[in-house]
Amino acid sequence: MSRARLEQDFERFKRALPCEFAAHVLEAYHVDLTASYLGVPLAHPIGKGSGQLSLNVGQLEGDREAGLAYVVLKTVIAQDEAGARSMAAWAIHETRMKVERRAAGGGAGWTVTWKGRGWDRSFADYLALVRAARTITAGGGMLVVPSAKYHLPRLDEPFRDDEYRYTTRCLAEAWGAPPLLLEVDFSPTLAGDSLSDDRAQVLRWMREVPGRIRAASPVSVRLAVKLMNARYDDAFQLEMMEACAGADALVCFNRLFDPERGVAYGGWELSDRNLRVLRAASDGRSARPPGRPPVIGTGNVCSGRMLLEYARRGCESVQVHTFFQLPLSEYPATHGSRTQRALHALVFDPHDGLVAGMLDMEEAGALSRRGGVLHFLDVVRSAD
Ligand SMILES: Cc1cc2nc3c(=O)[nH]c(=O)nc-3n(C[C@H](O)[C@H](O)[C@H](O)COP(=O)(O)O)c2cc1C
Repeated sequence: MSRARLEQDFERFKRALPCEFAAHVLEAYHVDLTASYLGVPLAHPIGKGSGQLSLNVGQLEGDREAGLAYVVLKTVIAQDEAGARSMAAWAIHETRMKVERRAAGGGAGWTVTWKGRGWDRSFADYLALVRAARTITAGGGMLVVPSAKYHLPRLDEPFRDDEYRYTTRCLAEAWGAPPLLLEVDFSPTLAGDSLSDDRAQVLRWMREVPGRIRAASPVSVRLAVKLMNARYDDAFQLEMMEACAGADALVCFNRLFDPERGVAYGGWELSDRNLRVLRAASDGRSARPPGRPPVIGTGNVCSGRMLLEYARRGCESVQVHTFFQLPLSEYPATHGSRTQRALHALVFDPHDGLVAGMLDMEEAGALSRRGGVLHFLDVVRSAD
């Protein structure tokens, strides 16, 4: 009966997805999609990763109307009080993005080719966006969180604490009531930069950056660290995760870097690597070994099934970017914004959607009802 209803909902919602679709999923299928990001309960696990799709209030309003659980704002480059930015090379202006097919292992995926880096307008503009985000968050329904990249020294250099202090203080003021929720980005272009040639240097950043930010903040901070896909092997990814135990969540992992083309890329190679490393990171008994921060998935989340692959490796929610940028003809929905059409496919697709995937897990004996309800977070808590 649930399956027939799913087919019907999928067809019906092609024209209009209800914003409160998680409540509908609970009522219609007894499936609870409740998820989490930085300790904040979310109606469902689908968020938007930092990038070109979270640059202005219009984009945020559209995402709130579509029913997205949370959005991470574009990454701003830290500065000191005088406006000096040691990472200024990451604040370059570039508008052209190309959505391209990228074939690899798992099938024909998509990637966005773009030569830009961090936020390229003024810090004052960014703070205005954080204030607007605060109003949207306070209105309920969608959480919006800022993202920053701070000074990353070479091994023999000290951290520029003045950049950490000034940027964190301004973000905390714009954010409002503590705790400040913040994501820190270690980007693919950083992975490709000579700064990352030295493994010990990278591990020092992971060990020290969370503490630097906490020390720099006038209020308590809940910090998600978005780890890069370094140019080294899987074992190094695990070392980075371990070194980053001071974070409150780890976003795993930002895009791969193609040194020949000098660009970051995603698609199936990205999800293959991320899922492989996340699997290795679980200790075999639980997806989250004691002492390790909760993980959040990112990379080629292009179906509910892929979302569940991340959940089965411990991810409490996911951050999508590329799937919100596809040509309209790629979405089964016929009406609505790209965010709405993407959510429709991710949740309600009767074969590859999140609800279908959880019902399949139940049928296979991999997920059980509690009080008559299937819980997304039970997928996260169960060992892979
Ligand atoms: C054009 C573009 C710009 C991005 N900019 C940022 C950024 O500023 N900060 C960040 O943390 N991640 C950034 N990302 C990474 C995305 O948030 C996301 O983690 C990554 O693309 C993997 O997800 P996807 O496969 O769904 O695209 C960017 C991605 C793209 C495609």
